[in-house]
Amino acid sequence: MVSRVIPVDPFDLVIFGGTGDLARRKILPGLFRRFRSGQMPEGARIIAAARSEMDRAGYQQMIADAIQEFGAEEKNDKDAIAKFLDVLDYTPIDAKGKDGWAALASMVRKDVIQAFYFSVAPSLFGDLAQRLHDYKISNDQSRIVVEKPFGRDLETAKALNKSLADHFDEKQIYRIDHYLGKETVQNLMAVRFGNVLFEPLWNNHYVDHIQITVAETVGVGGRGAYYDRSGAMRDMVQNHLMQLLCLIAMEPPSQFGADEVRDEKLKVIRALKPVDPHHIVRGQYDAGPDGPSYREDAENPRSFTESFIAMKCHIDNWRWAGVPFYLRTGKRMKARTSEIAVVFKDLGHSIFEGDEKRHRNILAIRLQPNEGIDLQVTIKEPGPGGMRLVDVPLDMTFADALGHAEHEVPDAYERLIMDVIRGSQTLFMRGDEVEAAWAWTDPLIQGWEERNDVPKHYDAGSSGPEDALMLLHREGRKWRDIKG
Ligand code: BG6
Repeated sequence: MVSRVIPVDPFDLVIFGGTGDLARRKILPGLFRRFRSGQMPEGARIIAAARSEMDRAGYQQMIADAIQEFGAEEKNDKDAIAKFLDVLDYTPIDAKGKDGWAALASMVRKDVIQAFYFSVAPSLFGDLAQRLHDYKISNDQSRIVVEKPFGRDLETAKALNKSLADHFDEKQIYRIDHYLGKETVQNLMAVRFGNVLFEPLWNNHYVDHIQITVAETVGVGGRGAYYDRSGAMRDMVQNHLMQLLCLIAMEPPSQFGADEVRDEKLKVIRALKPVDPHHIVRGQYDAGPDGPSYREDAENPRSFTESFIAMKCHIDNWRWAGVPFYLRTGKRMKARTSEIAVVFKDLGHSIFEGDEKRHRNILAIRLQPNEGIDLQVTIKEPGPGGMRLVDVPLDMTFADALGHAEHEVPDAYERLIMDVIRGSQTLFMRGDEVEAAWAWTDPLIQGWEERNDVPKHYDAGSSGPEDALMLLHREGRKWRDIKG
């Protein structure tokens, strides 16, 4: 398959926090893959800046090791690795002080695209933005890349937005939600807006309900301190699940442009109704054969933070009036799976005698693993015995259909970083979108904090607490099975 690659101009990418976990695990190995597939122009440079006193050779060694640890088969390409390491540079820097800034200023070129990736704690965003400006390192074309958590409520998100807006225009700010960089998440838009088949059915006349599930098998061990202050609502729903909800529910944008898409997403968030507290189920995992309980992982024996959440939401607009959107996400669940299922209404009347089952078409878009689409359709069971109907999946795994091995699908970070260099903001969150998402989330969190809500327990390796199942059962609906 020939892929169309949009060429990029030479650039200097400065990664603050370039020695951190995200940089070693995702950003640099991702950049290496882009480099290896020929998508980095001659003259591209990556400059890591972090607190550690280290020289260029030391950093190159660190990244060579990271590629060995986190890379796939490309880690055996010694030639390409050597060439990639040549693109790297390192400079020590004090984000809150003066040290290192003059040196960085002398390294960054003025006549190429400049991108500054803030792979650091959000509390440093303002300091970095200020110093880039004060030391005249950045200009009005430079791009700033930031990561979640983008605040922990509306107020802190506004303060972060302001600290960046003091020195950079919204057009220069790239807020990453790595879910938007996933190939299948982009495919959601391709499926919806690139086919005539689905759009006419995409409304409350034909859709019974929509389920969005992001289930993980991992617990919070290792990052318990951060997670315990956050919980599934802030860690996953406010950002990743909200983005999925927007893409599935938004009106067609007039074109696939940054503001056109983000305007439509924003309208969805603003049309979300406040959620009835009875329609929210929070859970915490118990200890299981494979690991400790949430409270042990979080090192907080009295924690009331949720590692699981399920809820029923409504979008208050013409297209979706009356259609429930069920969201659920959790840690230590029975399988790692992310999918969006559009469950269509049943037929209403069957012409086939004796066929009493309520057949339903379900369009399931699998984000991971085995990215693909599965459309449940009703057919005749082969063989004699009259018109016996069965529901079968028309299953398409993208890797099979396209003849790709899974590792050839670019990782979310690779895609997003190259979009920064290309200057395409479509797959990044705008400041008002983030604020609107917090404005919807804040009262829900305040509500359970005020009620001293205690999360329900669930077995590690299960589908979550019983109450979450009931959320659908009592309405005659059923969650889809969580399977890897
Ligand atoms: C992160 C969350 O944003 O997304 C993690 O902080 C979560 O808690 C992760 O595990 C899930 O991402 P992915 O790509 O593995 O589905």
